[in-house]
Amino acid sequence: MSFTVAIDGPAAAGKGTLSKAVSKHFGFAHLDTGLLYRAVGAKVAEGQDPFRAAEELVPEDLLRPDLRTLGAGQAASRVAALPSVRVALVDFQRRFALAAEGAVLDGRDIGTVICPQAEVKLFVTASAEVRAHRRWLEVGGDEAQVLAEVRERDERDMNRADAPLRPAPDAHLLDTSELSIDEVVAQAIDLIAAKR
Ligand code: C5P
Repeated sequence: MSFTVAIDGPAAAGKGTLSKAVSKHFGFAHLDTGLLYRAVGAKVAEGQDPFRAAEELVPEDLLRPDLRTLGAGQAASRVAALPSVRVALVDFQRRFALAAEGAVLDGRDIGTVICPQAEVKLFVTASAEVRAHRRWLEVGGDEAQVLAEVRERDERDMNRADAPLRPAPDAHLLDTSELSIDEVVAQAIDLIAAKR
């Protein structure tokens, strides 16, 4: 029987770190769904048609070294607003969620659209300033610029018509502004363990 953990939230809220820790703890497979949109964004930047880029995505596309940059995040959020791109990526994500050992998927719409039946849904958030500071520690550069990009991406992800970023009604909210990553991981593990 599959067991799915959906982890959603805005950019740099700590979803990635949390997802890795949780999947390691329970021995679950982990899919960072943001990488799918980042890979499509990168192909579109090279001139490909967005829908074809999404339809023809292969696992190797997720290994490109340039996918973690701020620019790749912006390109991802632009293609992610296209319904045809989102539809093309649904099956791959749903199949992944059926992994026999259990699965953690992190993204923006996992609890609302991709896996509405997920056994556990977490919505991870933090203030824009805290998230921008964390991202700036990773990427460097001008912190005000990083904050502006975080806000711009939030705005686009929350206000798009198709699968906007928002917590599922039955999601547990985890605000990481004031918590250490260890505290967040411990809370998530407790919530998941209670459902297994
Ligand atoms: O999570 P990450 O920052 O890598 O995601 C990059 C972009 O991909 C997001 O800003 C969002 O627009 C899009 N995305 C999405 N749905 C997901 C995951 C990511 O729309 N499930």
